Amino acid sequence: MKEWYDKINEASSVNALEEIRVAIFGKKGVLAAEFAKMKDVPNEQKGQFAKELNKHKSALMNEFTARKIVLQTQELQEAMKAEALDVSMFSTKSSAGALHPVMETMDRIVEYFSSMNFAVKTGQIVEDDFHNFEALNLPKYHPARDMQDTFYFKDEMLLRTHTSPVQIRTMMNTQPPIRMIAPGAVFRRDYDLTHTPMFHQIEGLLVDEEGKVSFANLKFILEDFLKYMFGDVAVRFRPSFFPFTEPSAEVDISCVFCEGKGCRVCSHTGWLEVLGCGIVDPNVFEAVEYKNVSGYAFGLGVERFAMLIHQIGDLRSLFEGDIKLLEQFQ
Ligand code: DAH
Repeated sequence: MKEWYDKINEASSVNALEEIRVAIFGKKGVLAAEFAKMKDVPNEQKGQFAKELNKHKSALMNEFTARKIVLQTQELQEAMKAEALDVSMFSTKSSAGALHPVMETMDRIVEYFSSMNFAVKTGQIVEDDFHNFEALNLPKYHPARDMQDTFYFKDEMLLRTHTSPVQIRTMMNTQPPIRMIAPGAVFRRDYDLTHTPMFHQIEGLLVDEEGKVSFANLKFILEDFLKYMFGDVAVRFRPSFFPFTEPSAEVDISCVFCEGKGCRVCSHTGWLEVLGCGIVDPNVFEAVEYKNVSGYAFGLGVERFAMLIHQIGDLRSLFEGDIKLLEQFQ
């Protein structure tokens, strides 16, 4: 048995020690073999034999544990020494910081609408049911709420699912005319290639006297905006539905990847959907107690714009904080 004490104390690494542990305590180890000899020991000596062996067993275990701590400490110290950074060393390569592509895209969008005299409003991320849904003509149990499942707090509070509630907040504390955009984070229960639980939207709202705001005004500004963002693309308006606008439309641009010929990204349609818009529904004006006004509104996803501008395939990669990815956007 003595040799095994020596072997433990001579082990030079945690790995080597582990091999010795198996050789001693393993199913086919020396201790098992010793215990197996018990059957040949005369009955009256069995007790003594077992006692001796068990003494060795626990002594070897103590030895093993002590040696393991010594070796682990040694290896940790060696590793730390090897990985030590010389903070006084002169660096030849350093990379400059840059705006995150989502923020950069957001800035460009805000820049466009600011130049058109739209004021920037922020609202609040933790919203109540009234501003996020009810006042936007999305009553309780309305099926359109299903598309915007979110994260709820008590007392009907929730993480806002879109930036549209900022329309309501702005109208409730200002008198028309209004020209505003609301950039900010929004939240939904979604996670795949093109959806993350948190993303950013920009909402737009313009309100003026009754009869002064038409779909033609909306169409003009959105076409101009999309050409500012994407260059010389074709723009089309498709009839759609949003509870807070009537009529509503979704807006497509000709695919920036294949120039409208049809590819995987545009599902071979030649078109990419980029925003939702419409003429403000009278029920919304009623909720904020506005009378004799007309207006248009629109909403867009900033990440979607960033993905199209930078040709990013997986939205989730934007939120992993991977320096290698972010360095590409400097
Ligand atoms: N709130 C909509 C959404 O999150 C986007 C939107 C569509 C906003 C049409 C609008 C609009 O103001 O008119 O899907």
